[in-house]
Amino acid sequence: MLKVCGSLIWITGLSGSGKTTIGNALYLKLKQKHTNVVFLDGDSFREILGNDLGHNPKDRLENAYRIHRMCKFLVSQNIHVVCATMSLYKEIHELNRSEMRNYLEIFIECEIDELIRRDQKGLYSQAIIGKQTDVVGVNLSFDKPQNSELTIDNTQQNALQEKVQKILDLLGEL
Ligand SMILES: Nc1ncnc2c1ncn2[C@@H]1O[C@H](COP(=O)(O)OP(=O)(O)OP(=O)(O)O)[C@@H](O)[C@H]1O
Ligand SMILES: [Mg+2]
Repeated sequence: MLKVCGSLIWITGLSGSGKTTIGNALYLKLKQKHTNVVFLDGDSFREILGNDLGHNPKDRLENAYRIHRMCKFLVSQNIHVVCATMSLYKEIHELNRSEMRNYLEIFIECEIDELIRRDQKGLYSQAIIGKQTDVVGVNLSFDKPQNSELTIDNTQQNALQEKVQKILDLLGEL
């Protein structure tokens, strides 16, 4: 698939599931062979644009549309985009799929108890005690991807390269 032209590898999952870790490791692998690869991470994307959106459902959806549009723009310039973002909206998944020929959706799955244990941004613990609103998976619902090309169980923080290899196998690379 990589040889055709640009592509979008959309790495999605709940906060703390491992999107950045897996996405970045995939990017580094692809970068060894291709110059036209970028890594777009949800958090840095917000920062680049000036952090003008919040985390309520309306702003999250707007942010997801922005990420979609940026990815589509880059893909149209023959760039391979590895995008790590939550953006768990059915309409965004459908839009990505309908607008881009080379689209791969990778769902990073992790049990909620493990996400709460990781609590890497302190969001889950705060949401559970009612001190934090708009936490996806606790007090905000999400659309679990229905047509992902691949689901990776990352409940155990291990086997990073093996998990990346599964994505590479799907891409037909290495
Ligand atoms: N396969 C793995 N092997 C080792 N450590 C991992 C693995 N997957 C995730 N981790 C670790 O788990 C934590 C959460 O991962 P990461 O930051 O990638 O999640 P995320 O989905 O990007 O979260 P967020 O949406 O909040 O940015 C990190 O400390 C990361 O180092
Ligand atoms: Mg991340």
